[in-house]
Amino acid sequence: MKFFIDTANLDQIKEAQDLGVLDGVTTNPSLMAKEGIAGDENVIAHYLKICEIVDGDVSAEVISTDFDGMVREGEKLAALHPQITVKVPMTKDGIKAIKYFSNKGIKTNCTLVFSPGQALLAAKAGATYVSPFIGRLDDVSFDGMELIDQIVHIYQTYGFATQVLAASVRHPVHIIKCAEAGADVVTCPLSAITALLNHPLTDIGLKKFLEDHAKAAAKQTA
Ligand code: E4P
Repeated sequence: MKFFIDTANLDQIKEAQDLGVLDGVTTNPSLMAKEGIAGDENVIAHYLKICEIVDGDVSAEVISTDFDGMVREGEKLAALHPQITVKVPMTKDGIKAIKYFSNKGIKTNCTLVFSPGQALLAAKAGATYVSPFIGRLDDVSFDGMELIDQIVHIYQTYGFATQVLAASVRHPVHIIKCAEAGADVVTCPLSAITALLNHPLTDIGLKKFLEDHAKAAAKQTA
C-alpha cells in the first residue's frame, strides 16, 4: 500500500519524505488555501516545489466545474511536471473530463467519492485513482471503511486498473483498516502516519534495553 501525504505544507511533506516512506502527495483547494497559496503563478510555483520534494504522484485539483474549464485547467496542470495528477471532482462534467484526460494519457484522481456507484463510474471513465472519503462519511454516521471494502471488491471483480486512494483519513486505525481492505493508496495527515510509530511496549522495551546495557557497561568498567 502506497502512503501519500494529504497536505500542501512543504515542511510536513519534507518530514514525511525524510522518514523514507512517502510515495506521493494529495492537495485540494482547502489545503492550498490553508497554506495561503492563491493566484495562478503562486499555485503553479507551489506545485513545482512539492514535485521537487517527492518522487511520486502529486494531485493538483481543478477549480473549474464545467467540462471545458476542467480540460483547460487540467492540461495546464499536467504540463507542469510529469508527477502531476489532475484531481477532478465526481460530477457529470468531471467524469467526462476524466475520460478525456484518460484518452490523452493524463493521470487523474477522481475526488469527492462517497458511494460505490460513483467509484464504478470513475473506473469506467479511466481514472488513475479514485478517492473515497472515509472520515467525512464517518462524520455523518456512515461507515467510511465499508465503502473502501465495497470499491476494492468491485474493482477486483472486474479487474479495473483504477487505484483505490483512500482519503479523508483521520487516524492510524483508518490506515490499518485500509491496508486490511486492500486499498492501493492511503492519503493522510502527517500526524496519522507518525502515530503508526507509537506503542507503549516499544518505549518500555527500549528503556529496559538501554538500562541493561548501561548496567553491564558500568560493571565492566568498575
Ligand atoms: C484528499 O484527497 C482529500 O481532499 C482529503 O483527504 C479530504 O480530507 P478531509 O475530509 O480531512 O478534509
